Amino acid sequence: MTRKIYFTTPIYYVNAEPHIGHLYTTALADMLKRYYQLAGNNAYFQTGTDEHGEKIVQAADKLGITPKQFCDNISGKFRDAWDNININYDDFIRTTDARHKTYVQDILTRVQEAGDIYFDEYTGKYCVGCERYLTDTELVDGKCPDHQTAPKEVKEANYFFKMGKYQQQLIQHIEENPDWIRPERFKNEVLSFLKSPLEDLCISRPKTRLEWGIELPFDNKYVTYVWFDALLNYVSGLKETSNGKNLFDEYWQGCNHLIAKDILKTHAIYWPTMLMSAGIPLFNQLDVHGYWMIGESKMSKSLGNVIRPLSFDAAFGIENLRYFLFKEMKFGADSSFTYDLFVERYNSDLANGLGNLLARNAGLVAKNFGAIPAATDLTEAEKELADKAQKVVDAYRQNFESRQFAKSIEDVCGLISETDKYITLMEPWKMAKDENRKNELARVLRSGLEICRIAAVLLSPVMPKKCTEILAYLGETRPLDGSVSIEELAAFGAIAEGIEISKPPRFFPRIDEAALSSITAQMQAEAEAAAKAAQSREIEPIKEQIIIDDFAKVQLKVGKVVEAYPVEEAKKLIRLMVDVGEEKPRQVFAGIKSHYPQPEQLIGQNVIIVANLKPRKMKFGMSEGMVLAASGDDRLVAATVLGNPHPGDGVS
Ligand code: MSP
Repeated sequence: MTRKIYFTTPIYYVNAEPHIGHLYTTALADMLKRYYQLAGNNAYFQTGTDEHGEKIVQAADKLGITPKQFCDNISGKFRDAWDNININYDDFIRTTDARHKTYVQDILTRVQEAGDIYFDEYTGKYCVGCERYLTDTELVDGKCPDHQTAPKEVKEANYFFKMGKYQQQLIQHIEENPDWIRPERFKNEVLSFLKSPLEDLCISRPKTRLEWGIELPFDNKYVTYVWFDALLNYVSGLKETSNGKNLFDEYWQGCNHLIAKDILKTHAIYWPTMLMSAGIPLFNQLDVHGYWMIGESKMSKSLGNVIRPLSFDAAFGIENLRYFLFKEMKFGADSSFTYDLFVERYNSDLANGLGNLLARNAGLVAKNFGAIPAATDLTEAEKELADKAQKVVDAYRQNFESRQFAKSIEDVCGLISETDKYITLMEPWKMAKDENRKNELARVLRSGLEICRIAAVLLSPVMPKKCTEILAYLGETRPLDGSVSIEELAAFGAIAEGIEISKPPRFFPRIDEAALSSITAQMQAEAEAAAKAAQSREIEPIKEQIIIDDFAKVQLKVGKVVEAYPVEEAKKLIRLMVDVGEEKPRQVFAGIKSHYPQPEQLIGQNVIIVANLKPRKMKFGMSEGMVLAASGDDRLVAATVLGNPHPGDGVS
């Protein structure tokens, strides 16, 4: 029977742009989804953004824009990043989505009706970075160890969730399901935390202090605490998907959360107790990975060591990074990224390993046969190779399902170096010189290519695009969607014969170590420029607010451009004659010459003009209005209206 599995990533705060840490968990969900599909299961994957809370308000305030504007911008960046690097998510949820807000309010009502919410006065130490109260035992020298800032003392009346009530039930669940939190060390960490009495959870913020959140259904002077809101995304997104389906019954019981260790407590304690109170079955699995460091340091904007997925992709290819990340990090342990290490691994495993094995064998096949030769009887040497491949395939499922996929990647590498040794021993280049050894040559080269094909099948969840290209090149076009089993796909001897083999493309060109520093310097410069731009342009401060009556003073009309000329004597101006439904067209001068060096392209276009702007006498004549345009940095385009409006129609 096919299993249904639902992978989730944390929904990311929108106070930072996507970096390699977010990429890891998201690509992990993507890889696992692909693996489970390959293994014949049905997998669904949701990611998204977490948009409420104090942190966001602080960030938006700094830029002088509204929290919603701020969130739209950064949430869009997460989505764009995932779309551009082939992350195969099924749904993207935002906590500002209406579907989510309604669901949070339903659950709050349910939890309150269960008698699990009460009102009380509270004093606590709040870390805005973590968006939660910290206990004294969590502080190091009075500071939050993760954010290195002192939490602020908060004293206020609030609503509380009776989390403590569920402590025993939670302990029992963890003990009865020893694999529920993986790896074990994190399960132990949670159990040890649960040795002390579990305090209740403050789940509201008075609007007098924070307005940006989901209003409590039973008290409109309060908004919901951001974690109580955010965790519910895992269910709200299934209850109502972006395209209006309810997939809860189908997928919830196969829910597998993926997180890093930073948010263990919220996922292993807050979340299950919330589910218990709301009467929702618990999720099936919590998988916790370690932290990526950059060299020895934490990633941070101020250290300037943030690695952005899209620039990495442009410089080195995102799939090569996925390969590195998934092989390098032992699940649950911290790991370190450096460019040098990345290049070293890439060159040895992919350029010199798989890439070279493929190129060597395919090159000789192209030269001597032009197509994959037919199978011949295998000798002991190939049988041994086939056995080794079989062992790798046998361990593959188990490794992926216990999240030891790094082992499988290593196994594939091992298989490739064994095959390299085999090829070196067989010396096919010598066989190629002897007409009588054609059969032997066919056997050896076919075996070499066979291992490349098997490697590409097994690595397809890790590097989906690259592996599909390799498989297509080798004539392996069977689908990787579970309709053919992994064992069949990766069986030694399954490679087709007669597939034309031309000189192979360079699937993994070597990265020149000498060029590395200039590439990374350029990436660094790009990152700095982007950070600067984010401060100034994208997030332009909004102007003073106006009321509707102010806006009503401006009369906007549709105008059709009937004539357009450059003003020769002026650097920036063009002269437009615009039909706005009056007796004769109006003359308007617009400072857009550099964007419209051939103004006649505007003839026949509908533009929007400010019709009641006081006419202005200019050196070249009267200007009777103003044309609206969209602009940013050095872009500018005239604003228009869709459809077929008539000149003179009002725009409002
Ligand atoms: N918004 C909360 C999560 C709410 S889920 C209901 C949050 N957001 S976050 O933007 O801070 O994301 C934290 C997650 O991002 C980590 O758990 C991990 O998945 C990923 N990572 C961020 N930095 C990371 C590293 N340096 N290394 C590995 N993963 C990291 O917490």
